[in-house]
Amino acid sequence: MTHIDAGQSGQFAIGGDLRVNRLGFGAMRITGAGVWGPPRDRDAALATLRRLPELGVDFIDTADAYGPDISEQLIREALHPYQGLVIATKGGLTRGGPNQWTPNGRPEYLIGQAQRSLQKLGVERIDLWQLHRIDPKVPRDEQFDAVRRLLDQGLIRHAGLSEVAVDDIQAAQQVFPVATVQNRYNLVDRDSEAVLDYCEQQNIGFIPWFPLAAGDLAQPGGRLDRIARRHAASAGQVALAWLLQRSPVMLPIPGTGNVAHLEQNAAAAGLRLSAEEFAELTQAAQS
Ligand SMILES: NC(=O)c1ccc[n+]([C@@H]2O[C@H](COP(=O)([O-])OP(=O)(O)OC[C@H]3O[C@@H](n4cnc5c(N)ncnc54)[C@H](OP(=O)(O)O)[C@@H]3O)[C@@H](O)[C@H]2O)c1
Repeated sequence: MTHIDAGQSGQFAIGGDLRVNRLGFGAMRITGAGVWGPPRDRDAALATLRRLPELGVDFIDTADAYGPDISEQLIREALHPYQGLVIATKGGLTRGGPNQWTPNGRPEYLIGQAQRSLQKLGVERIDLWQLHRIDPKVPRDEQFDAVRRLLDQGLIRHAGLSEVAVDDIQAAQQVFPVATVQNRYNLVDRDSEAVLDYCEQQNIGFIPWFPLAAGDLAQPGGRLDRIARRHAASAGQVALAWLLQRSPVMLPIPGTGNVAHLEQNAAAAGLRLSAEEFAELTQAAQS
């Protein structure tokens, strides 16, 4: 296999000082079905995590709710003490069972969960802690104040938001420096275009989750497929390359529980679409 280096995706400094290779990894898929319980193949999950640094993937996204706890625990087992790696986690969603997610934005809950993440990950300070959801039942400023406290107490180095509108980001920026925003976004799901543009303008890292859901364009014979064949690549790799070329603040975190898929995704870091290909894909997805 040719050498794979996620560093070819370029770099971004989270919060201005935490430099990562832009193509990262999402650690939600190393848990059981419905993001609940342990993974079906634990050895494969650990092997996937251990392969990350070898491929130059140094930015890992997880959450207390993945499993719950399982994803953070496996990351620790495979990668502690995380030399050269940035581990980002989140809090603010509770779990009742497979595929069930309920926000809890009460400040004492958020602070308690961040403290638990510190213990599970085995660190003194979390590199990047993200508010998983703004809980509509709690005033958002109370949730932002809790994040501010985590920063002030030194429990977290940088803070981010998830599934937010520009107005939420601006309100949060009154309370703490917003280092990242994590919204659902991919080639065919562009509802967060305005949020991405705002992040680029503010130099906030934009973490598109669900980056591989390329939908119809990934079907054989579709535009993505034709461009992929021209590059001897897969449709998924083209979807990742498009994301990376869309914005210098884009930090895609494709998730998988197996090494072969991880290698394929990381190899997308070296794929460059021509300006015509980029424009064609951008337009096709909007029509
Ligand atoms: N902030 C939020 O609310 C939120 C919500 C959801 C996710 N996230 C984060 O975003 C990350 C990515 O999101 P996601 O996992 O939902 O979406 P994704 O990365 O677009 O898709 C992951 C799915 O694609 C498959 N896959 C991955 N690489 C593949 C490849 N090379 N070939 C074929 N199939 C492949 C995986 O299955 P295999 O395991 O079989 O490879 C998995 O089922 C998560 O891990 C998590 O960290 C955040």
